[in-house]
Amino acid sequence: SILVLLPLLALATSSMLSDLSKELVDEGLLTLDEDAVPTTTCMITLRNGSSISKTCYMTEGFGPRSAGCYAVWAGTSLIAQGCYSNQEISLRDQCRKDECKSDGKSPVVSFCCCFGHLCNA
Ligand SMILES: *[C@@H]1O[C@H](CO)[C@@H](O)[C@H](O)[C@H]1NC(C)=O
Repeated sequence: SILVLLPLLALATSSMLSDLSKELVDEGLLTLDEDAVPTTTCMITLRNGSSISKTCYMTEGFGPRSAGCYAVWAGTSLIAQGCYSNQEISLRDQCRKDECKSDGKSPVVSFCCCFGHLCNA
């Protein structure tokens, strides 16, 4: 009976995906792990200042949520990179389906949130 239930469980879990997550999975910008949790790969800044790539998961919280990556920089200096999981409504507002790019000119601190594996590299 477990074999009968598993597809139903998978269906129930995937139907809980937010519209944004579904859209991003369809476009290859987000992946579902074996537990159907949306994941992406981001560069993250370690405490010692170096960066590594890491699997980032959609975190639990209020309302429909999804996951992306972020980068913060000023001019040509990188300040931080990391995972960004938030409510869908704020991700739609803040993030884009494109890489984070610095023009290297503006000395102002810039924040960028993006969807797609290593889009914050
Ligand atoms: C920073 O820390 C990581 C993990 O602890 C280590 O692998 C890496 O070599 C360190 N990098 C530097 C520049 O110290």
